[in-house]
Amino acid sequence: MKKILLLPGDGVGPEIISQAKKLIEKLRSDHGLQIETSEALVGGASFDAYGSPLTDEVLQRAKEADGILFGAVGGPKWEVLEISQRPEIALLKLRSELGLFANLRPVILYPELADASTLKPEVVAGLDILIVRELTGGIYFGQPRGIRNNASGEREGYNTLVYSESEINRIGRIAFEIAAKRQGRLCSVDKANVLESTELWRQCITELSARYPAIELSHMYVDNAAMQLVRAPKQFDVVVTTNLFGDILSDCAAMLTGSIGMLPSASLNADNKGLYEPVHGSAPDIAGQNKANPIATLLSLAMLLKYSLDEVALADKIENAIQQVLAEGLRTADIYQPGNKLMGTEEMGDAVLDYL
Ligand code: IPM
Ligand code: MG
Repeated sequence: MKKILLLPGDGVGPEIISQAKKLIEKLRSDHGLQIETSEALVGGASFDAYGSPLTDEVLQRAKEADGILFGAVGGPKWEVLEISQRPEIALLKLRSELGLFANLRPVILYPELADASTLKPEVVAGLDILIVRELTGGIYFGQPRGIRNNASGEREGYNTLVYSESEINRIGRIAFEIAAKRQGRLCSVDKANVLESTELWRQCITELSARYPAIELSHMYVDNAAMQLVRAPKQFDVVVTTNLFGDILSDCAAMLTGSIGMLPSASLNADNKGLYEPVHGSAPDIAGQNKANPIATLLSLAMLLKYSLDEVALADKIENAIQQVLAEGLRTADIYQPGNKLMGTEEMGDAVLDYL
């Protein structure tokens, strides 16, 4: 039987993963889903219990799982810790140890939420972008890194932005293949006018494009891409970019949809094993208040079913249920508009369950 590891983490993590658990139970009892689930601490919660944001035991269980559903990590309580002990390290270690190099972040605007966006409805209506972010390389992992004293006795912080050809090619191939299943347009985002590492990125992606003649490839500098995302986001189909640029652009793109509380993500390795998580993070300001939007997590569960378990029909069921809930005007606070029915995390989870 396939094994799923649940890692609720910190902040709103436990509340939103609880909603996913209800859905998994229902899929097991009424829809024939056969999976084994187990749960473990990660991030700040793990640090508090075991003195480490990710224990070897949990890392081992993650390696053995067919899929991981991840809540969120981090919060002000742990910001005083040195970087190597911070909750975020758990996520970075899982990504690198499991080889989860391909991060897929769909940015879809549900028609019902066109008014919830800060952009004009006509700019965002029908938006459907997929950001493919490289996740195990670049400046997040490059060596050397640290804080040192320089020759004049001043402290200096330094990091290394490095990409090898093979790292660029493997994420490039994924992006071209995904574009082929969508509208066939791929935009590669770099800073090739300034950074050699991304000059190579542009060369490799261009060379790769010879193998995908049906895909219309374009290149864009990251500063322009940020501007274009808020100016005319519908020009994009698939965007492929580096770890850091993808981190920034995906938050920016998320807001086009009205709320980051709606966006799921998948981080996959070469065998389609994956970690699935909402893009929004731990939101400590609303943690424990039954306010968080569980939809990003439920959509992440749908992605898990689709990519790692091949249960496409069940994934569609979840997506349809969410669409119906939105069509009924049911909303958590982050996507609430006058005239809607305001709900908490639990109630939203139950509503999706009802429509399932
Ligand atoms: C994300 C987050 C993480 C990242 C943090 C929590 C380490 O912002 O998944 O986008 O920077 O990758
Ligand atoms: Mg981020």
